[in-house]
Amino acid sequence: MSLLDARGLTRHFGGLKAVDGVDFDLAAGEIHALIGPNGAGKTTFVSLLSGRLPVQSGRITLAGEDITGLPAHARVRKGIAYTFQITSVFPGLSVFDNVALAVQGGRGSARDLSRAVEAALYRVGLETLRRETAGTLSYGHQRLLEVAMGLALQPRVLILDEPTQGLAAGEIGAFKALVRGLVPEVAVLLIEHNMEVVMDLAQRITVLNFGRVLASGTPDEVRANPAVQEAYLGA
Ligand SMILES: Nc1ncnc2c1ncn2[C@@H]1O[C@H](COP(=O)(O)OP(=O)(O)OP(=O)(O)O)[C@@H](O)[C@H]1O
Ligand SMILES: [Mg+2]
Repeated sequence: MSLLDARGLTRHFGGLKAVDGVDFDLAAGEIHALIGPNGAGKTTFVSLLSGRLPVQSGRITLAGEDITGLPAHARVRKGIAYTFQITSVFPGLSVFDNVALAVQGGRGSARDLSRAVEAALYRVGLETLRRETAGTLSYGHQRLLEVAMGLALQPRVLILDEPTQGLAAGEIGAFKALVRGLVPEVAVLLIEHNMEVVMDLAQRITVLNFGRVLASGTPDEVRANPAVQEAYLGA
């Protein structure tokens, strides 16, 4: 049974078919990777899921409930959290305060704000940097802070848009362990260009190309698909 389901999602920009009739489903407890060449429509697609962009046609359901017309903040409260491809922390605030803001915007009752913040920071391994000003963190640490902010929302679905971009090679292993530790409580939609990370983490992979689904299946199925090889993996 799918937790998050999209049917026929479409978003054009003028004549450009950025997302063009995409079907996608995320099962509870699953890590599902969304891959494809630059400009394939991945970020646009998840912006439709999160409500950052309105859909032009198609339907989105969360646990069977139609959320297609809900604004972004209402989707967050329903349990869809989203980290941006471009880092979006508040640079002048401390690491702790960034996460505290997320806790307050999320689903939890957050009776103990400080404990909720610490839990999210521990999860991503940033607890020793809690007092640092977010803007002074390395790019990779800012991405991890975004993940902590996403988790602080207590999501059912966490959408990660290129979370390993800017992480040092030595940080990738810890990141993979972090994502593995999120399931099955949280279902993860992972946009990722690092194929090693994708093949290691994902139970299913959907490949977008020119706004359309080129292939969808297990890592082995997708890797063996000639159309995927030609459009993406072969490159
Ligand atoms: N707000 C916008 N207005 C016009 N065109 C847009 C807008 N947002 C995205 N596009 C275009 O839509 C297409 C899909 O872009 P999108 O950012 O979704 O791709 P992507 O798969 O996330 O790429 P990348 O891997 O580089 O992040 C691109 O051609 C992009 O230039
Ligand atoms: Mg993108």
